[in-house]
Amino acid sequence: MSSAHHNSATATPPVPATAANIERAAEILRHGGLIAFPTETVYGLGGDATADRAVAAIFEAKGRPKFNPLIVHVPDPDAAFSLGVPTDTARRLAQKFWPGPLTLVLRRAASCPVSLLASAGLDTLAVRVPRHPVAQALLRAAGRPLAAPSANRSGRVSPTTAQHVAESLGGGVEMILDGGACPVGIESTVVDASGQSPALLRPGGVTQEEIEAVVGKLAAAALTATPNSPGQLETHYAPSLPLRLEARSAKPDDALLAFGPDVPTGARIALNLSRSGDLVEAAANLFAMLRQLDGSGGRAIAVMPVPETGLGRAINDRLRRAAAR
Ligand code: TXA
Ligand code: MG
Repeated sequence: MSSAHHNSATATPPVPATAANIERAAEILRHGGLIAFPTETVYGLGGDATADRAVAAIFEAKGRPKFNPLIVHVPDPDAAFSLGVPTDTARRLAQKFWPGPLTLVLRRAASCPVSLLASAGLDTLAVRVPRHPVAQALLRAAGRPLAAPSANRSGRVSPTTAQHVAESLGGGVEMILDGGACPVGIESTVVDASGQSPALLRPGGVTQEEIEAVVGKLAAAALTATPNSPGQLETHYAPSLPLRLEARSAKPDDALLAFGPDVPTGARIALNLSRSGDLVEAAANLFAMLRQLDGSGGRAIAVMPVPETGLGRAINDRLRRAAAR
């Protein structure tokens, strides 16, 4: 693949995730190409995790400013624990939450075939077993671990539909498998389970409360200038419009991101994350609605308060990052 035109070229239109197209996608992956595929959280931009060139092509297609470590996707826990060294904590979390929206950071196994570039030079590896049937079928068809960040340009909102991927990525992706809207809609929870005490690196689809019910209190990873997990960077999820958080009223130029039944009037446009106040529904709507409001012609996105509990923590985490710019 020549690299010169990736970011200006138009992405290939999405194709339905039929068995035949999944087989074609697996073939592309085995030859070092990149494809986008649905997971239960967000769409991933996948490449062969054991091929340095494929991993490098992922960074290029995303326009990543630097080599952040990537999540490596495998079809089952056995595959995960052949790549990374399981701790007690890791085994218990895997047992409870895999397949599903949880990523575990583990020490790389001695024989780990995953490209060092996917670990960005760290001696750890982030692994995840997705539960989306298309992701599962693809991983089994490809027969190798897939490195897959969210399939958006670096620093932008994660894609939860195949159309978002087509709009966000240039020509670096050879196929976009369309499996419909992602049911969880927010990225996986990243837990560092490489050492003695597990730490939460990124809130996500499995709640902190659910994880703590299995392994006890999580250490909070401090936000630092050189974060362990780039998901910790303040401006990681950025729409173009400025965000105003904790909005309880709306101005005429506002694009309002509402939550719950009591919505202030007067905004030029309002979308409701969940009229009934359901955090699961809100997470599933978050990125698609941010995108829609971003393109609505308003001057700012005003965001109503979302409770800081359960999935609300992950939602607020993404909203705070989007606002910090
Ligand atoms: O839901 C998800 O996790 C999606 C889907 C496609 O699986 N993927 C995703 O990947 O969100 P990405 O690259 O956008 O985010 C990966 C996160 C980043 O915050 C990264 O810093 C962290 O995982 N990460 C990866 N490897 C790590 C490592 N070795 N140590 C610490 N953090 C790591
Ligand atoms: Mg991402």
